[in-house]
Amino acid sequence: MRLLALALLLPLAALADKPVDAGPYVPSPQSVVSKMLEYADVGPTDFLVDLGSGDGRIVRTAALVFGASGFGVEIKDELVRQANADAQREGIADRVKFVKADLFKTDISRATVLTLYLLPETVNLLRDKLLAELRPGTRVLSHDYPLSGWIPEKYVQMDLEEKVQISGVTTTLIYLYVVPAKVEGRWTASLPGGPVTLDLKQQITRVSGTARAKGGDVALENVALRGERLSFRLAGKTYSGRVQGAAIEGAVDSGGAWNAKRVR
Ligand SMILES: C[S@@+](CC[C@H](N)C(=O)[O-])C[C@H]1O[C@@H](n2cnc3c(N)ncnc32)[C@H](O)[C@@H]1O
Repeated sequence: MRLLALALLLPLAALADKPVDAGPYVPSPQSVVSKMLEYADVGPTDFLVDLGSGDGRIVRTAALVFGASGFGVEIKDELVRQANADAQREGIADRVKFVKADLFKTDISRATVLTLYLLPETVNLLRDKLLAELRPGTRVLSHDYPLSGWIPEKYVQMDLEEKVQISGVTTTLIYLYVVPAKVEGRWTASLPGGPVTLDLKQQITRVSGTARAKGGDVALENVALRGERLSFRLAGKTYSGRVQGAAIEGAVDSGGAWNAKRVR
């Protein structure tokens, strides 16, 4: 009886493990690949991860032309084999590799640049994984589809005849995002004028907050967060700083330094 129950459950377990199809194999046109890599200012110190790497052209171009290293994950055996063989032939196999894996289960924490050309719903399924695993400052490039609720750093439109057979229109969009530091919460800050408590609210890249001192609460103005760089205006001065985990160190435009420590 137990065996029968197990036999009935096994196909279900296999189904549950089946990778979600994140998109069909449609290679990015080479002009889009070059534009994406230029747009993110990819260079020799970068480690690029392409989720759903197809024939590996994004990672291989990043290595060949821009000197980067990295890896691609791809679900189709044949494409993984082809990408590794091409990397070998191009003499970049020491810097790039392609693995057969489910992109949803891949550890992406090493990336300094992450690229996506996937179905629109898949891109959005990945949003929380990107925010949880990628370090602040990591650049995320998405070909054609935006990450909902996440304001891109910038985006560019290209018009390409070859896209008509893929998406029915010539329009191609490239979105560039920068992973923000996590700043939501309460901080005690030492400003040149004295200590204040900062209460920050965060929705991905949008941050707002108040500063509490003896005189009461004051709303922070022009709050901006780009990667680990946080800035705001308070009482006519601009404070900018670098967020590193539970600490912020920074400078004031009128002179002097400030810092903050997270209290919750
Ligand atoms: C639109 S293609 C993009 C290829 C390449 N990134 C490019 O831009 O040229 C998407 C790729 O994702 C792969 N893919 C789909 N679902 C996947 C999954 N769950 N894990 C890994 N790769 C997947 C597909 O086989 C396909 O090669």
